[in-house]
Amino acid sequence: MSKNRKMADKSGSAGINTRLAHIGNDPQDFHGYVNPPVVRASTILYPDYETMRDRSQKYHYGIDGTPTTEALKDALSELEGAAGTALVPSGLAAISVSILCFAKAGMHLLVVDSLYGPTRLFCDTVLSPLGVEVEYFSPFVGDDFSKLMRPNTGIVMLEAPGSNSMEMCDVPLLAGIAHDRNKDCIVMMDNTWASPLFFRPLDHGVDVSIHALTKYPAGHADVLMGGISTNAKHSAQLQSSTRAMGMCVGGDDAYLVLRSMRSMGVRMRHQEKTTLQIYQWLQSQKEVSRVLYPALPDDPGHELWARDFSGASSLFTVVLKDRSPDQAGVFLNALRIFGLGYSWAGYESLAVMPKFDDRQICRGPQDGTSIRLQIGLEDAEDLIADIDQALAAMVAGDS
Ligand SMILES: Cc1ncc(COP(=O)(O)O)c(C=O)c1O
Repeated sequence: MSKNRKMADKSGSAGINTRLAHIGNDPQDFHGYVNPPVVRASTILYPDYETMRDRSQKYHYGIDGTPTTEALKDALSELEGAAGTALVPSGLAAISVSILCFAKAGMHLLVVDSLYGPTRLFCDTVLSPLGVEVEYFSPFVGDDFSKLMRPNTGIVMLEAPGSNSMEMCDVPLLAGIAHDRNKDCIVMMDNTWASPLFFRPLDHGVDVSIHALTKYPAGHADVLMGGISTNAKHSAQLQSSTRAMGMCVGGDDAYLVLRSMRSMGVRMRHQEKTTLQIYQWLQSQKEVSRVLYPALPDDPGHELWARDFSGASSLFTVVLKDRSPDQAGVFLNALRIFGLGYSWAGYESLAVMPKFDDRQICRGPQDGTSIRLQIGLEDAEDLIADIDQALAAMVAGDS
């Protein structure tokens, strides 16, 4: 084992940027090169019949993994404190595959209402027809969650903060209740917003931590990937079910994600700092009724965020006071630095107008039109100037 690898293995107590610099591959496994090789593989040859019969070599077929995907999986398991990680082709696949690995016909699934819209679409259009009963609950349910648990509740699906509407739920409380009521219930969480750098779900009672690696880990708007990390209890099933479903990712994409993860800590802290600067400016704008972001002291989710999370990501929602969607559209059209586009957590700032009409409970702000902003790596002053001139264009559109 190389000196770098030993350091990475013992790095539980080291700072996050030190760990990010050394987790994953061991340079001595590949001639001392700092980065792992990019292996593109379907077929892997055996030297002879006996090795093939006994499966006595490390790699067998591309779906099972390569040194490149293994390096990324090891890095993610280390960050999540997980027994194992599976890689899948997108963040949405990480959600759907996690659920499919563990769901059974006749099972009852409890899903937080504020979660990422496509997760709901998956639950309603794919899971329900398979005989899984899906029930949505309020992120503010608290202790009453025990009343929702049934003997056949097999999966609880959480996300915090909620997508676009940003409600926090009490993750350790809900996970504790789920396991108390049904010890085999599997608690899953979409942890994309915080990433394991700012919140480690498995340390808070969650069994399966799901991450759209497309966001902060990839960070450059050029890769789609998802990661599913589990505790020891569920690791074997995750590995065998994802293998049975043929889930895998290519070596080039895995390499890109691992490469970007080296700078993820620095990017996230920089983006957090810029986000807070922008918030401070937005606070004094009369066109803004409020900002939804749990890192703010007056946000309803602040107490939970401050108790459990060690940082805030660069995604928040701003409510344009009493503005219609078309008026807010004038604001969006006027933006020059912020791009109009889906996804987030990359180096570039983005804006979208989220919809909440698929929700049963968390129907989004009613005091204006919501705009979700993703703050990239640009300078805060430039982003503020961009928002300022776009707000002015919206106001000018009134006359
Ligand atoms: C919270 C959350 N989870 C999952 C996803 C899905 O990730 P992907 O775009 O890689 O499918 C997204 C995408 O925006 C997201 O915001």
